[in-house]
Amino acid sequence: MAEPIVIKFSHVVSENTPKGQGALLFKKLVEERLAGRVVVQVFPNALLYSDTDEINGLLTNEVQLIAPSISKLIQYNPELSLFDLPFLFKDFNSVVKYWRRDISRELLSPLANNGFVGLDFWGNGMKQMTATREIRLPSDAAGLKFRIQDSEILKREYEVIGAAGIPAEFSNSFTALKNGIVQGTENTWSNIYTQNYQDVQSNMTETNHGVIGYILVTNRTFWAQLPFDVKVELNEIIHEVTDTVNNEAIVLNNQALQKLIDSNKSTILTLNESEKDAWKEAYASFLAIEGSHINRSVLRAAEIVNR
Ligand code: LMR
Repeated sequence: MAEPIVIKFSHVVSENTPKGQGALLFKKLVEERLAGRVVVQVFPNALLYSDTDEINGLLTNEVQLIAPSISKLIQYNPELSLFDLPFLFKDFNSVVKYWRRDISRELLSPLANNGFVGLDFWGNGMKQMTATREIRLPSDAAGLKFRIQDSEILKREYEVIGAAGIPAEFSNSFTALKNGIVQGTENTWSNIYTQNYQDVQSNMTETNHGVIGYILVTNRTFWAQLPFDVKVELNEIIHEVTDTVNNEAIVLNNQALQKLIDSNKSTILTLNESEKDAWKEAYASFLAIEGSHINRSVLRAAEIVNR
């Protein structure tokens, strides 16, 4: 019998997150349905590659699967900046509906020009804000530095409210917060909790101001040389895992939020309707300007799923 095909799946988050669980489910299903033919090795928590070098690890075929945040792939397809726009999507389910539309496949295809195959969209959840002081209104963030993903839109987004977005690796974010290099950050509840930001952030605000989503990508050459029947089975497994990840994500984030509340380490704010309106108003013109650079049909689909 031929040696099994080895798929190394590297990612930067904890296993107790949507992406972490998705990677483990992918491994389970592949080793059940392609037993003996394919083996999956999962490397969570940036054990193998951090978010700045995982893409190169994929391109050199050192690993065969990664699932970087969409924000980190905008450099390969600017239309993906759609998902960095603040308050564009009203909730996580709207984003998932977007990913299920044909137009989302068009957003994956340009990745092939860069040596990738974009396989599917996995979701985590809506982004929340954390800081060393209470943030209720946009003006409360003025003067603070926030760790963000390396995205030009996210940098500009923090300038709108008089703050500074400081790109840093996800795996270095806790240390940057602990050492005061930045005073705040943004992420989903599951990432906030599993990275222990509650130990270094006195305040958290449920802003739901954006989304963390991923694109599952593989090395194009690796994917092209797979036996056809293996590729068919892997595609079916990926679509099944995608549905599970996106259906379970809200549950995992709600569980993380409850654990944050129970830890009693940070003050967690929910905004009233007028405070939510103040955030949307602060970003209204920014959203219009940044949205004007995005293909009309790409943006239109977002308006449709938000209904
Ligand atoms: C981040 O860098 O904050 C996130 O993209 C990490 C992740 O993969 O969820």
